[in-house]
Amino acid sequence: MNANLDGKTVVITGAAGGIAAAAARRFAAAAAKLVLGDLNGTALEVLAGELAAITEVHAMTCDVTKPAECAALVAEAVAGTGRVDVLVNTAGLWVEGPSETMTEADWDRVVDVNLKGTFFCCRYAIPELKKTQGCIVNLSSDAGLVGTPETAIYTASKGGVSLLTRSLALELAPALVRVNAVCPADVATPMLEGQARDFGGGDPQGYLKRLLTGYPQGDKARFIKPEEVAELIFYLASAAAAPVTGANISIDFGTTAGYGYE
Ligand SMILES: NC(=O)c1ccc[n+]([C@@H]2O[C@H](COP(=O)([O-])OP(=O)(O)OC[C@H]3O[C@@H](n4cnc5c(N)ncnc54)[C@H](O)[C@@H]3O)[C@@H](O)[C@H]2O)c1
Repeated sequence: MNANLDGKTVVITGAAGGIAAAAARRFAAAAAKLVLGDLNGTALEVLAGELAAITEVHAMTCDVTKPAECAALVAEAVAGTGRVDVLVNTAGLWVEGPSETMTEADWDRVVDVNLKGTFFCCRYAIPELKKTQGCIVNLSSDAGLVGTPETAIYTASKGGVSLLTRSLALELAPALVRVNAVCPADVATPMLEGQARDFGGGDPQGYLKRLLTGYPQGDKARFIKPEEVAELIFYLASAAAAPVTGANISIDFGTTAGYGYE
């Protein structure tokens, strides 16, 4: 694919995570310059070290719940590369459990990263994206499109990301800035491992197995690979996706397509 990303600047939040690192590798392979931000500075340095052999990389420890740090990440891109062409908002946290057990801290932690962080990274990138007619790719989720039990906070945050995506797409269309979201089901990343560990009731394998029982593929179901999501993110950032904006694109083995046989 002629992605037209050669020499362009891609800013990625939560960059050290499973999906984001796969996306960073995909963009690096297309010779894009990378500006990587993550709360986990150690993991970020490892990834930046790996990718520096392939392309120009700027890495910055940043907390997207703090608008000033979202602004600083964009400023780093402008100072280091002179531009922002693509913003990928990947930083995210998961929480689950009965809503009556959730605390204000659970709400603030998850909504602040998933929704507030996404908005403020967009907010500070918009002036730069208008200059380059660039684009934004947000990480929503299947849980941003449909409800699931005992995930009210996470689904509220991702539902917010999905509608934020649509609103920004309309607002920025006159400037030819595109805004889309990807909506994956379960992807084999550290987040999924953490879910199984923290919420699996001591049986992480059982937890993972239960997740797959809801898939239309039945006993042939499997988790999505981070590289498969990265390819969709890459497509949405590429010139081939010029007419695509305001979209929430499912990559979920059909789990949100509707009712199955039962
Ligand atoms: N893994 C899945 O099954 C799945 C499915 C649907 C959507 N998603 C979404 O995709 C995105 C990436 O998920 P992943 O599975 O790669 O997760 P991951 O846990 O592997 O990566 C998330 C990254 O975000 C970073 N982060 C957390 N809080 C941050 C903050 N305040 N500031 C900056 N960085 C912060 C973490 O350090 C981590 O590197 C998330 O938004 C997630 O909600 C994941």
